[in-house]
Amino acid sequence: MANSTKIPKDSLPVNRVRNFQLFDQEVCLNIQRNTFPASRLHTDFAREIRKPNSIYLVAYFEHCYEELDETIKLNNYLCECKTNAKNVSGFIGGWNVVDEIQIIDFIVEEKFRGHGIGRLLLNSLIELACSVKSKLITLEVRASNMPAINLYTKFGFKVCGSRKNYYSDKNEDALLMDLEIN
Ligand SMILES: CC(C)(COP(=O)(O)OP(=O)(O)OC[C@H]1O[C@@H](n2cnc3c(N)ncnc32)[C@H](O)[C@@H]1OP(=O)(O)O)[C@@H](O)C(=O)NCCC(=O)NCCS
Repeated sequence: MANSTKIPKDSLPVNRVRNFQLFDQEVCLNIQRNTFPASRLHTDFAREIRKPNSIYLVAYFEHCYEELDETIKLNNYLCECKTNAKNVSGFIGGWNVVDEIQIIDFIVEEKFRGHGIGRLLLNSLIELACSVKSKLITLEVRASNMPAINLYTKFGFKVCGSRKNYYSDKNEDALLMDLEIN
């Protein structure tokens, strides 16, 4: 199970977003494995980011942090974040097909959730979608995944369909959501 030590609000260093680099794959794979330990399906990030139509972004802390524990120790020195996967806190990824972007991966490391990193990543993806003149962003989400559904709804995503029993582990429906971009 992932380290889920709660971190007080406003106690994290500044977050930024950049393109996913090959050296991010190990950290992101760990985040994915920790989030979905029962799943055998993991993203081949190296393959994904080489696809010409893929869009992958990572959120990273501007300042280095030591391993966060209950006492939350933050390092004060600025590190080379842009060439370092150590500070990655989450990622979002999708495919840009014609004028639509389909979100296929979106995770914030468990211990960093609830601090606006998901919002930052989604906002960055939407900005990117605007810049490449996408007309629609689509995704699938478990019907019970309220944190994600709330987040998408806040950004204006609407439920546009469902897939019955799409998630076979719990026979759970997938909601299809989309956001039209004007
Ligand atoms: C969904 C996810 C990416 C959100 O990331 P996050 O960094 O925790 O989200 P943020 O802190 O930016 O929260 C943004 C909004 O999301 C919603 N939200 C986040 N966590 C929530 C929770 N536990 N319960 C209800 N709503 C929540 C709220 O609307 C929140 O806005 P607010 O802060 O104004 O209340 C994160 O929960 C996650 O990685 N989940 C596991 C993987 C997953 O389910 N991915 C989505 C697949 S479709």
